[in-house]
Amino acid sequence: MKKITYIYKKIVFNLKKKINIDKEDLKNKSLDELFTYYGTDKANNVKNQYQKNSELTIGHGYSKFYQKHFENFKKEEFNLLEIGTWKGSSCAAFAKYFENARVFGIDRNFKFNYKSNRIKFLYCDLRNRSDLNKLEKTIKDKKFKIIIDDGSHILSHMIKNLFFFIKYLEKDGYFVIEDFNFPKFYNHLNDGENEELFFDEILNHINEKKYFKSKLLSNDMQSFFFDSIENIHIYKGKEKDSDIAFIKKK
Ligand SMILES: C[S@@+](CC[C@H](N)C(=O)[O-])C[C@H]1O[C@@H](n2cnc3c(N)ncnc32)[C@H](O)[C@@H]1O
Repeated sequence: MKKITYIYKKIVFNLKKKINIDKEDLKNKSLDELFTYYGTDKANNVKNQYQKNSELTIGHGYSKFYQKHFENFKKEEFNLLEIGTWKGSSCAAFAKYFENARVFGIDRNFKFNYKSNRIKFLYCDLRNRSDLNKLEKTIKDKKFKIIIDDGSHILSHMIKNLFFFIKYLEKDGYFVIEDFNFPKFYNHLNDGENEELFFDEILNHINEKKYFKSKLLSNDMQSFFFDSIENIHIYKGKEKDSDIAFIKKK
């Protein structure tokens, strides 16, 4: 039954008319303007994409941190992967900002609304082993310069995603985690059952190469992080729950 539902949704998705961003002339727009234009809450100001006819409201304000780390890559040819796309607003904005990048987006929903020669949507429910196997087959020969986790923001998912995807990062590539303190603010996202550190504490331990108690990350896995991470930059966005980390791989 699940398979039939998936096939049906995929057919509907493939037939759905999407916005072709290759035809949109948005040259010279800043990353923040692109975030606002396409409607992702990474922007300083954004319409609520889950509500019809929403007014502009305050977003997380992550644009300036993305620009600080990635402005130099603007014209480079590279792969970017975003975990959690929803309608594809941020993938569209990144594809416009990074003029030569190939943008890959993963989601367990078929809500993606955009198309481009440089965007590829990949269906995957990251909780599902067989979906992950299929995903690995698709990306096994690829390396990404930038991987962004803007998925469920559930504590265990963020921990697993970092460990799973870091092997797909290029040398000197970045793993970005948005809203990593959400499990502190929203109980339903905290599935650590008092046995996992919050994500900010995990990042501090990795930064200081100090082992910590975890059911999900063995000491070997922690050693892997200590050896493969060059540095971690953490920033506060505009809202009290807006926290973003830029993790650079060696
Ligand atoms: C915050 S939204 C992404 C917003 C988007 N990046 C943007 O800036 O417009 C989070 C997305 O993560 C997806 N997601 C949540 N859990 C997931 C999972 N287990 N596997 C894949 N995607 C998941 C949701 O379907 C949702 O579309």
